[in-house]
Amino acid sequence: HLFEALLGTVAAHHPTLARTADALAALDALAALAEVAHRRGYVRPAITRAPTLTIRAGRHPVVEAVAGGGFVPNDTRLDPETEQLLVITGPNMGGKSTYLRQVALITLLAQTGSFVPAAEAEIGLVDRIFTRVGASDNLVGGESTFMVEMRETANILSELTPRSLVVLDEIGRGTSTFDGISIAWAVAEHLHDALERPRTLFATHYHELTALGAEKPRVRNLSVAVAEWKGEIVFLRQIVPGPAPRSYGVEVARLAGVPEPVVARARALLAGLETGQGPVGRGPEPAAAQLSLFSADEERIRRELAGIDPERLTPLEALAVLARLVEMARG
Ligand SMILES: Nc1ncnc2c1ncn2[C@@H]1O[C@H](COP(=O)(O)OP(=O)(O)OP(=O)(O)O)[C@@H](O)[C@H]1O
Ligand SMILES: [Mg+2]
Repeated sequence: HLFEALLGTVAAHHPTLARTADALAALDALAALAEVAHRRGYVRPAITRAPTLTIRAGRHPVVEAVAGGGFVPNDTRLDPETEQLLVITGPNMGGKSTYLRQVALITLLAQTGSFVPAAEAEIGLVDRIFTRVGASDNLVGGESTFMVEMRETANILSELTPRSLVVLDEIGRGTSTFDGISIAWAVAEHLHDALERPRTLFATHYHELTALGAEKPRVRNLSVAVAEWKGEIVFLRQIVPGPAPRSYGVEVARLAGVPEPVVARARALLAGLETGQGPVGRGPEPAAAQLSLFSADEERIRRELAGIDPERLTPLEALAVLARLVEMARG
Protein backbone atom coordinates (compact mmCIF):
# COMPACT_ATOMS: atom_id res chain seq x y z
CA HIS A 1 0.00 0.00 0.00
CA LEU A 2 2.77 2.39 0.96
CA PHE A 3 4.67 1.48 -2.19
CA GLU A 4 1.67 2.26 -4.36
CA ALA A 5 1.29 5.63 -2.66
CA LEU A 6 4.93 6.35 -3.35
CA LEU A 7 4.54 5.38 -7.01
CA GLY A 8 1.57 7.71 -7.26
CA THR A 9 3.54 10.64 -5.87
CA VAL A 10 6.49 9.98 -8.19
CA ALA A 11 4.22 9.55 -11.22
CA ALA A 12 2.69 12.96 -10.56
CA HIS A 13 6.14 14.50 -10.86
CA HIS A 14 7.12 12.46 -13.88
CA PRO A 15 7.50 15.32 -16.40
CA THR A 16 9.75 17.31 -14.04
CA LEU A 17 11.84 14.27 -13.16
CA ALA A 18 12.29 13.32 -16.83
CA ARG A 19 13.37 16.85 -17.71
CA THR A 20 15.83 16.90 -14.84
CA ALA A 21 17.28 13.57 -15.95
CA ASP A 22 17.62 14.87 -19.51
CA ALA A 23 19.37 18.01 -18.33
CA LEU A 24 21.72 16.03 -16.10
CA ALA A 25 22.56 13.64 -18.93
CA ALA A 26 23.36 16.54 -21.25
CA LEU A 27 25.42 18.20 -18.55
CA ASP A 28 27.28 14.96 -17.90
CA ALA A 29 28.12 14.52 -21.60
CA LEU A 30 29.25 18.13 -21.97
CA ALA A 31 31.31 18.00 -18.80
CA ALA A 32 33.00 14.81 -20.04
CA LEU A 33 33.84 16.42 -23.39
CA ALA A 34 35.15 19.50 -21.59
CA GLU A 35 37.27 17.44 -19.23
CA VAL A 36 38.84 15.38 -22.04
CA ALA A 37 39.42 18.54 -24.08
CA HIS A 38 41.16 20.18 -21.15
CA ARG A 39 43.22 17.18 -20.15
CA ARG A 40 44.39 16.24 -23.64
CA GLY A 41 44.93 19.69 -25.11
CA TYR A 42 42.11 19.76 -27.65
CA VAL A 43 41.35 22.97 -29.53
CA ARG A 44 38.16 24.70 -30.56
CA PRO A 45 37.53 23.90 -34.23
CA ALA A 46 36.19 26.46 -36.66
CA ILE A 47 33.10 25.27 -38.49
CA THR A 48 32.69 26.89 -41.88
CA ARG A 49 30.35 26.74 -44.84
CA ALA A 50 33.21 26.12 -47.28
CA PRO A 51 33.23 22.52 -48.51
CA THR A 52 36.85 22.10 -47.40
CA LEU A 53 38.56 20.50 -44.43
CA THR A 54 41.82 21.56 -42.86
CA ILE A 55 43.39 19.89 -39.85
CA ARG A 56 46.80 20.80 -38.51
CA ALA A 57 48.56 18.21 -36.35
CA GLY A 58 45.47 16.06 -35.90
CA ARG A 59 45.47 13.06 -33.57
CA HIS A 60 43.35 9.97 -33.10
CA PRO A 61 41.56 10.51 -29.77
CA VAL A 62 41.68 6.87 -28.68
CA VAL A 63 45.04 5.71 -30.11
CA GLU A 64 46.58 8.85 -28.63
CA ALA A 65 45.21 7.98 -25.21
CA VAL A 66 46.66 4.47 -25.41
CA ALA A 67 49.98 5.52 -26.99
CA GLY A 68 50.76 7.98 -24.20
CA GLY A 69 53.14 10.64 -25.44
CA GLY A 70 54.22 8.67 -28.51
CA PHE A 71 51.48 9.65 -30.91
CA VAL A 72 52.63 11.29 -34.15
CA PRO A 73 50.24 14.09 -35.23
CA ASN A 74 49.42 14.55 -38.91
CA ASP A 75 47.94 17.26 -41.12
CA THR A 76 44.98 16.89 -43.46
CA ARG A 77 43.77 19.08 -46.27
CA LEU A 78 40.72 18.30 -48.39
CA ASP A 79 39.30 20.60 -51.04
CA PRO A 80 36.82 19.60 -53.75
CA GLU A 81 38.55 21.99 -56.16
CA THR A 82 42.06 20.65 -55.81
CA GLU A 83 42.60 17.89 -53.27
CA GLN A 84 39.34 16.04 -53.28
CA LEU A 85 40.49 12.44 -53.07
CA LEU A 86 43.49 11.36 -51.02
CA VAL A 87 44.96 7.96 -51.92
CA ILE A 88 46.92 6.72 -48.92
CA THR A 89 49.43 3.92 -49.31
CA GLY A 90 52.06 2.58 -46.96
CA PRO A 91 53.23 -0.53 -45.17
CA ASN A 92 51.10 -2.72 -42.97
CA MET A 93 51.11 -1.28 -39.45
CA GLY A 94 52.10 2.07 -40.91
CA GLY A 95 49.10 3.99 -39.60
CA LYS A 96 46.76 4.31 -42.60
CA SER A 97 43.61 3.18 -40.83
CA THR A 98 44.41 5.31 -37.81
CA TYR A 99 44.82 8.39 -40.02
CA LEU A 100 41.54 7.77 -41.85
CA ARG A 101 39.61 7.32 -38.65
CA GLN A 102 41.17 10.30 -36.94
CA VAL A 103 39.94 12.57 -39.72
CA ALA A 104 36.43 11.13 -39.47
CA LEU A 105 36.45 11.36 -35.66
CA ILE A 106 37.73 14.93 -35.58
CA THR A 107 35.00 15.92 -38.02
CA LEU A 108 32.37 14.13 -35.97
CA LEU A 109 33.60 15.61 -32.68
CA ALA A 110 33.66 19.10 -34.16
CA GLN A 111 30.10 18.80 -35.34
CA THR A 112 28.84 17.45 -32.03
CA GLY A 113 30.15 20.68 -30.51
CA SER A 114 33.27 19.24 -28.93
CA PHE A 115 36.82 20.51 -29.02
CA VAL A 116 39.07 18.32 -31.19
CA PRO A 117 42.48 16.61 -30.87
CA ALA A 118 44.51 18.84 -33.18
CA ALA A 119 46.61 22.00 -33.11
CA GLU A 120 44.10 23.69 -35.38
CA ALA A 121 41.04 22.58 -37.33
CA GLU A 122 38.72 24.17 -39.82
CA ILE A 123 35.86 21.88 -40.68
CA GLY A 124 33.63 22.67 -43.64
CA LEU A 125 30.20 21.50 -42.60
CA VAL A 126 29.60 17.82 -43.39
CA ASP A 127 26.17 16.28 -43.79
CA ARG A 128 27.26 12.66 -44.00
CA ILE A 129 30.28 10.68 -42.94
CA PHE A 130 30.43 7.48 -44.94
CA THR A 131 32.83 4.83 -43.75
CA ARG A 132 33.80 1.50 -45.15
CA VAL A 133 36.38 0.11 -42.74
CA GLY A 134 37.30 -3.21 -41.21
CA ALA A 135 36.18 -6.66 -42.21
CA SER A 136 32.93 -7.97 -40.90
CA ASP A 137 30.49 -10.51 -42.14
CA ASN A 138 26.86 -11.27 -41.57
CA LEU A 139 26.77 -15.03 -41.82
CA VAL A 140 23.40 -15.40 -40.16
CA GLY A 141 21.99 -12.75 -42.48
CA GLY A 142 23.35 -14.70 -45.43
CA GLU A 143 26.14 -12.28 -46.36
CA SER A 144 29.83 -13.05 -46.70
CA THR A 145 32.60 -10.61 -45.82
CA PHE A 146 32.95 -9.45 -49.39
CA MET A 147 29.20 -9.16 -49.84
CA VAL A 148 28.97 -6.87 -46.80
CA GLU A 149 31.88 -4.81 -48.09
CA MET A 150 30.28 -4.35 -51.50
CA ARG A 151 26.83 -3.64 -50.10
CA GLU A 152 28.28 -0.86 -47.94
CA THR A 153 30.21 0.48 -50.92
CA ALA A 154 27.08 0.43 -53.06
CA ASN A 155 25.24 2.34 -50.39
CA ILE A 156 27.95 5.01 -50.23
CA LEU A 157 28.10 5.48 -53.98
CA SER A 158 24.36 5.93 -54.28
CA GLU A 159 23.94 8.33 -51.35
CA LEU A 160 26.72 10.85 -52.04
CA THR A 161 26.12 14.53 -51.38
CA PRO A 162 28.38 17.54 -52.03
CA ARG A 163 28.93 17.73 -48.27
CA SER A 164 29.79 14.09 -47.75
CA LEU A 165 33.00 12.91 -46.14
CA VAL A 166 33.91 9.45 -47.44
CA VAL A 167 36.40 7.20 -45.68
CA LEU A 168 37.29 3.96 -47.46
CA ASP A 169 39.80 1.57 -45.93
CA GLU A 170 41.12 -1.05 -48.33
CA ILE A 171 38.16 -1.40 -50.62
CA GLY A 172 38.30 -4.57 -52.70
CA ARG A 173 40.59 -6.41 -50.33
CA GLY A 174 38.08 -9.18 -49.80
CA THR A 175 38.38 -10.72 -53.24
CA SER A 176 41.04 -11.86 -55.73
CA THR A 177 43.79 -9.39 -56.52
CA PHE A 178 42.69 -8.39 -59.99
CA ASP A 179 39.01 -8.15 -59.11
CA GLY A 180 39.99 -6.14 -56.06
CA ILE A 181 42.21 -3.69 -57.91
CA SER A 182 39.60 -3.22 -60.60
CA ILE A 183 36.83 -2.54 -58.11
CA ALA A 184 39.00 -0.21 -56.03
CA TRP A 185 40.06 1.67 -59.13
CA ALA A 186 36.53 2.06 -60.46
CA VAL A 187 35.20 3.17 -57.07
CA ALA A 188 37.95 5.78 -56.69
CA GLU A 189 37.36 7.02 -60.21
CA HIS A 190 33.64 7.28 -59.59
CA LEU A 191 34.15 9.27 -56.39
CA HIS A 192 36.51 11.62 -58.19
CA ASP A 193 34.31 12.12 -61.23
CA ALA A 194 31.01 12.38 -59.32
CA LEU A 195 29.37 15.79 -59.61
CA GLU A 196 29.05 15.88 -55.82
CA ARG A 197 32.84 15.82 -55.44
CA PRO A 198 32.72 14.25 -52.00
CA ARG A 199 35.81 14.76 -49.86
CA THR A 200 37.37 11.31 -49.80
CA LEU A 201 40.14 9.44 -48.00
CA PHE A 202 41.06 6.19 -49.65
CA ALA A 203 43.59 3.84 -48.06
CA THR A 204 44.82 0.95 -50.15
CA HIS A 205 47.49 -1.70 -50.52
CA TYR A 206 47.03 -1.75 -54.27
CA HIS A 207 49.99 0.24 -55.40
CA GLU A 208 48.49 0.36 -58.89
CA LEU A 209 45.99 2.90 -57.61
CA THR A 210 48.65 5.53 -57.06
CA ALA A 211 48.64 5.97 -60.86
CA LEU A 212 45.34 7.78 -60.39
CA GLY A 213 47.33 10.69 -59.01
CA ALA A 214 48.78 11.37 -62.45
CA GLU A 215 45.54 10.69 -64.26
CA LYS A 216 42.98 12.59 -62.24
CA PRO A 217 43.38 16.28 -61.41
CA ARG A 218 41.92 16.15 -57.88
CA VAL A 219 43.62 12.99 -56.65
CA ARG A 220 46.58 13.34 -54.27
CA ASN A 221 48.91 10.54 -53.25
CA LEU A 222 49.92 10.36 -49.62
CA SER A 223 51.82 7.67 -47.77
CA VAL A 224 52.96 6.82 -44.28
CA ALA A 225 56.71 7.05 -43.95
CA VAL A 226 58.95 4.23 -42.81
CA ALA A 227 62.68 4.06 -42.42
CA GLU A 228 64.84 1.00 -42.94
CA TRP A 229 67.55 0.58 -40.39
CA LYS A 230 69.93 -2.39 -40.32
CA GLY A 231 67.45 -4.47 -42.28
CA GLU A 232 64.59 -3.67 -39.91
CA ILE A 233 61.67 -1.41 -40.64
CA VAL A 234 61.00 1.52 -38.38
CA PHE A 235 57.49 2.98 -38.48
CA LEU A 236 57.60 6.76 -38.47
CA ARG A 237 53.81 7.26 -38.60
CA GLN A 238 54.29 10.47 -40.51
CA ILE A 239 51.98 11.15 -43.45
CA VAL A 240 54.06 12.43 -46.36
CA PRO A 241 53.24 13.46 -49.95
CA GLY A 242 53.65 10.87 -52.70
CA PRO A 243 53.02 7.13 -53.01
CA ALA A 244 54.64 4.52 -50.79
CA PRO A 245 57.67 2.73 -52.23
CA ARG A 246 56.46 -0.76 -51.27
CA SER A 247 54.32 -2.77 -48.90
CA TYR A 248 56.73 -4.43 -46.39
CA GLY A 249 54.08 -7.10 -45.78
CA VAL A 250 56.68 -9.85 -45.41
CA GLU A 251 58.68 -7.81 -42.87
CA VAL A 252 55.55 -7.16 -40.85
CA ALA A 253 54.69 -10.88 -40.96
CA ARG A 254 58.13 -11.56 -39.49
CA LEU A 255 57.62 -8.94 -36.78
CA ALA A 256 54.33 -10.62 -35.93
CA GLY A 257 56.11 -13.91 -35.29
CA VAL A 258 55.38 -15.90 -38.43
CA PRO A 259 57.96 -18.74 -38.38
CA GLU A 260 61.25 -17.93 -40.10
CA PRO A 261 61.02 -20.68 -42.81
CA VAL A 262 57.60 -19.38 -43.87
CA VAL A 263 58.92 -15.82 -43.98
CA ALA A 264 61.93 -16.92 -46.02
CA ARG A 265 59.71 -18.80 -48.45
CA ALA A 266 57.40 -15.79 -48.77
CA ARG A 267 60.38 -13.56 -49.47
CA ALA A 268 61.57 -15.90 -52.24
CA LEU A 269 58.09 -16.06 -53.78
CA LEU A 270 57.81 -12.30 -53.61
CA ALA A 271 61.13 -11.85 -55.37
CA GLY A 272 59.89 -14.14 -58.14
CA LEU A 273 56.64 -12.26 -58.46
CA GLU A 274 58.38 -8.91 -58.55
CA THR A 275 60.70 -9.88 -61.37
CA GLY A 276 57.75 -11.27 -63.27
CA GLN A 277 59.10 -14.80 -63.41
CA GLY A 278 56.42 -16.28 -61.26
CA PRO A 279 57.05 -18.43 -58.23
CA VAL A 280 59.92 -20.80 -58.84
CA GLY A 281 60.25 -24.37 -57.59
CA ARG A 282 57.32 -25.54 -55.54
CA GLY A 283 55.35 -22.41 -56.14
CA PRO A 284 51.61 -22.45 -56.70
CA GLU A 285 50.73 -22.86 -60.38
CA PRO A 286 47.72 -20.57 -60.88
CA ALA A 287 49.63 -17.45 -59.92
CA ALA A 288 51.66 -17.71 -63.11
CA ALA A 289 48.66 -16.99 -65.30
CA GLN A 290 47.82 -13.85 -63.28
CA LEU A 291 51.38 -12.65 -63.32
CA SER A 292 51.83 -12.65 -67.06
CA LEU A 293 49.24 -9.93 -67.43
CA PHE A 294 50.99 -7.48 -65.22
CA SER A 295 54.60 -8.24 -66.00
CA ALA A 296 55.92 -10.09 -69.02
CA ASP A 297 53.04 -9.36 -71.39
CA GLU A 298 52.75 -5.82 -70.14
CA GLU A 299 56.44 -5.36 -70.83
CA ARG A 300 56.07 -6.72 -74.36
CA ILE A 301 53.18 -4.35 -75.06
CA ARG A 302 55.10 -1.47 -73.58
CA ARG A 303 58.05 -2.19 -75.85
CA GLU A 304 55.81 -2.50 -78.89
CA LEU A 305 54.21 0.84 -78.05
CA ALA A 306 57.54 2.54 -77.46
CA GLY A 307 58.70 1.40 -80.90
CA ILE A 308 55.85 3.08 -82.73
CA ASP A 309 56.30 6.45 -84.43
CA PRO A 310 52.77 7.86 -84.78
CA GLU A 311 53.99 10.56 -87.19
CA ARG A 312 54.95 8.01 -89.81
CA LEU A 313 52.01 5.65 -89.50
CA THR A 314 49.31 5.62 -92.18
CA PRO A 315 45.77 5.17 -90.85
CA LEU A 316 45.74 1.63 -92.22
CA GLU A 317 49.04 0.73 -90.54
CA ALA A 318 47.75 2.26 -87.33
CA LEU A 319 44.77 -0.05 -87.43
CA ALA A 320 47.04 -3.04 -87.98
CA VAL A 321 49.21 -2.03 -85.00
CA LEU A 322 46.14 -1.57 -82.85
CA ALA A 323 44.84 -5.01 -83.82
CA ARG A 324 48.19 -6.56 -82.93
CA LEU A 325 48.30 -4.78 -79.54
CA VAL A 326 44.77 -5.87 -78.71
CA GLU A 327 45.68 -9.44 -79.60
CA MET A 328 48.73 -9.25 -77.32
CA ALA A 329 46.69 -7.82 -74.47
CA ARG A 330 44.16 -10.62 -74.79
CA GLY A 331 46.97 -13.13 -74.77
N1 LIG B 1 50.16 8.60 -35.74
C1 LIG B 1 50.47 7.56 -34.97
N2 LIG B 1 51.28 7.73 -33.89
C2 LIG B 1 51.62 6.67 -33.13
N3 LIG B 1 51.21 5.42 -33.33
C3 LIG B 1 50.40 5.17 -34.36
C4 LIG B 1 49.99 6.23 -35.24
N4 LIG B 1 49.20 5.70 -36.19
C5 LIG B 1 49.12 4.39 -35.93
N5 LIG B 1 49.84 4.06 -34.82
C6 LIG B 1 49.99 2.71 -34.26
O1 LIG B 1 50.21 1.80 -35.31
C7 LIG B 1 49.28 0.75 -35.28
C8 LIG B 1 48.89 0.35 -36.67
O2 LIG B 1 48.20 1.40 -37.30
P1 LIG B 1 47.11 1.15 -38.43
O3 LIG B 1 46.23 0.02 -38.07
O4 LIG B 1 46.48 2.45 -38.68
O5 LIG B 1 48.05 0.71 -39.64
P2 LIG B 1 47.65 0.38 -41.15
O6 LIG B 1 48.56 1.18 -42.03
O7 LIG B 1 46.19 0.58 -41.35
O8 LIG B 1 48.03 -1.15 -41.27
P3 LIG B 1 47.36 -2.27 -42.23
O9 LIG B 1 47.88 -2.00 -43.59
O10 LIG B 1 47.91 -3.57 -41.68
O11 LIG B 1 45.88 -2.15 -42.10
C9 LIG B 1 48.11 1.29 -34.46
O12 LIG B 1 47.48 0.27 -33.77
C10 LIG B 1 48.75 2.28 -33.52
O13 LIG B 1 49.15 1.65 -32.34
MG1 LIG C 1 44.67 -0.67 -41.89
